[in-house]
Amino acid sequence: MALRIAVIPGDGIGKEVTAEAVRVLEAIGGVDIQHLPWSADHFLATGETIPPNGYDTLRSFDAVLVGALGDPRVPDNRHARDILLGTRFELDLYVNYRPVRLLDDRLCPLKSRTRADVNFVVFRENTEGLYVGVGGRFKPETDDEIAVQEEINTFKGVNRIVRHAFQFARTRGLRRVCMADKSNAMTYGHALWQRVFRSVQDEYPDIQATHLYVDALAMFLVQDPAQFEVIVTNNLFGDIVTDIGAALQGGLGMAASGNIHPGRTSMFEPVHGSAPPLAGRNVANPIGAILSAALLLDTSGRVDDAARVERAVEAAVQDREVTRDIGGSLGTTEAGTAILRRL
Ligand code: NAD
Ligand code: IPM
Ligand code: MN
Repeated sequence: MALRIAVIPGDGIGKEVTAEAVRVLEAIGGVDIQHLPWSADHFLATGETIPPNGYDTLRSFDAVLVGALGDPRVPDNRHARDILLGTRFELDLYVNYRPVRLLDDRLCPLKSRTRADVNFVVFRENTEGLYVGVGGRFKPETDDEIAVQEEINTFKGVNRIVRHAFQFARTRGLRRVCMADKSNAMTYGHALWQRVFRSVQDEYPDIQATHLYVDALAMFLVQDPAQFEVIVTNNLFGDIVTDIGAALQGGLGMAASGNIHPGRTSMFEPVHGSAPPLAGRNVANPIGAILSAALLLDTSGRVDDAARVERAVEAAVQDREVTRDIGGSLGTTEAGTAILRRL
């Protein structure tokens, strides 16, 4: 049966890169694609960020593919909050899966590092932390303003993402899981991460469990990325370290992600945003979006199709039939075509 996929191209370069990912999915076949217009344009035209039954609409699909959300004409980006963060929360997509894999030695910004050195995955907790919006402002817009934003860490939330990381390592035959927190400063919430990590690691004696403070992790990601196989961390730290991860792969245009609740409708998107300076110029790299479509296929059980897409991307990268950000000379559409030709 065809995989029913909702596609939300969104804003800026999201529209351009998603068009290429959709072409790839259609070439692979066995997909039934429906576009949803939710975006800054839609919000500015209708005043609606996501329709009242929007999350139920998404749940009725097998998977969701998103481009990017964020537009300078919506200064508080409330549509992005409702569409992107709202879907992560409402569909309880607690696993933010962000693989970091270098496809060509030439793309690594680090001196003398090769593909063997950059190949790990980050599991970012995706439903709590500083993102839940607990807090408020007192005396806003005055010199007495007090702004409070609380970080939420629950046993349930920490436990399920840490377990997912260990289970992934075991299933994939990996040997190391590194948990990163800031428990030396975030005394309460991150003590919970410490406690959970210690108790889960006892159940996985076959996996080497290590801990780093997130500042040290940021340093080691640049100095010696080869030591990492699986990294698990909280929502905000995961956001930041996966942009470092994107840089290790050649830039934001290369990085893919999945927002996953195992067994339920999940959402896939490139790690990058809407990149307003690049929008509408046919220059954005579509690879992050195309590899996100591959993750969608993989997570939906279409493992061979996902591998086909990944091989086609890899071949185009190695032949330098790519966009300028990674050393090629093609536009977004032409880079998509180069990948399609190799499928
Ligand atoms: P961004 O990822 O949009 O762009 C940062 C820079 O990275 C760009 O200027 C460009 O140089 C490079 N870049 C990103 N994607 C690229 C691509 N596909 N090809 C080539 N180069 C690429 O981040 P930003 O400028 O901080 O954010 C812009 C808007 O996007 C904001 O509104 C932000 O909130 C939003 N955003 C959305 C998502 C998402 O939808 N998942 C993710 C990140 C940022
Ligand atoms: C990402 C983005 C989002 C995040 C923004 C747009 C809210 O940066 O998906 O990495 O911080 O999660
Ligand atoms: Mn981010």
